[in-house]
Amino acid sequence: MKTTTLSLMLFAGTALAALPAQAAGSLNLICSADVVICEQMTGDFQKETGIKVNMVRLSSGETYAKIRAEARNPKTDMWWGGTGDPHLQAASDGLTLEYKSPMLDQLQDWAKKQAEGSGYRTVGIYAGALGWGYNTEIFSKKGLKEPKCWADLLDASLKGELQMANPNSSGTAYTALASLVQIMGEDQAFDYLKKLNGNISQYTKSGSAPVKAAARGEAGLGIVFMHDAVSQTAEGFPIKAIAPCEGTGYEIGSMSIVRGAKNIDSAKTWYDWALKPEVQSRMKDAKSFQLPSNKSAEVPKEAPRFEDIKLIDYDFATFGDAEKRKSLLERWDREVGTAAN
Ligand code: F6P
Repeated sequence: MKTTTLSLMLFAGTALAALPAQAAGSLNLICSADVVICEQMTGDFQKETGIKVNMVRLSSGETYAKIRAEARNPKTDMWWGGTGDPHLQAASDGLTLEYKSPMLDQLQDWAKKQAEGSGYRTVGIYAGALGWGYNTEIFSKKGLKEPKCWADLLDASLKGELQMANPNSSGTAYTALASLVQIMGEDQAFDYLKKLNGNISQYTKSGSAPVKAAARGEAGLGIVFMHDAVSQTAEGFPIKAIAPCEGTGYEIGSMSIVRGAKNIDSAKTWYDWALKPEVQSRMKDAKSFQLPSNKSAEVPKEAPRFEDIKLIDYDFATFGDAEKRKSLLERWDREVGTAAN
């Protein structure tokens, strides 16, 4: 056989082999969880389905703003991860698509409620409680006491030791703001946040950044979801996770299909796939220690359990409302954000 014929056959073979992947389509996805799990999920999905994923990692509040801005001409098909509140806000703005996955029956009640409460425009994929993680070495070196309660975070000895995210960009920080309002009442919560500001060295863009800074010794403590503190401990850093004594809020991490998505079939394939027990059980491989929403998924042994934490009855309908979000964030900018600059 001549070389040219052989190369032609080889070329045709390669082209054919490439066909199923092309035919399988593509998916434009924004991922609002930690970048390591975002990459694991997209890699696994591509391998299992042949669908090519273009993934961008953005915090929950940033994604909500982007989807709002692109409402007339959506560039995103799927929004996976991030706190549930902005997913609910997007649902109430009509920015996301109603979809009843055949997987719904396999989910925990809290995940189904998230779907029902939004008219099936979003669904719960994982859950986790808010708290903080502190660097035990820094605290012991400086002779600082372990803060067990929200009130302890105001202690003058912690000046400059704390970091939290900005609630405009971060779903974690919005959950903190909404939780404090529910625990203390709105005016007292803002008084608290103004005082807390005196101990905060930096408001980060992403929710887990504060505890990553504490792990590296750049801060003493980060106000974060407890599972994000635990993943730093699992990485070998001297981080201890704390559940606040007064009680705390929690997230129902969610996913939504964007209304007007160009790759709707790929988005539905992702949606059903991401609710599978085996997919959720693999999240721990990326040191993502949230509670999974599929009842048959394995709960990681590192995951902070809701039974061990004093949880408030978080009002998702009220704090997932777009107007409520706007008013709380405007007040935060006015009373806390400006003081921080
Ligand atoms: O790092 C993981 C995580 O805490 C998720 O559990 C949560 O949904 C997301 O990050 C929130 O990120 P952000 O605060 O940056 O919006």
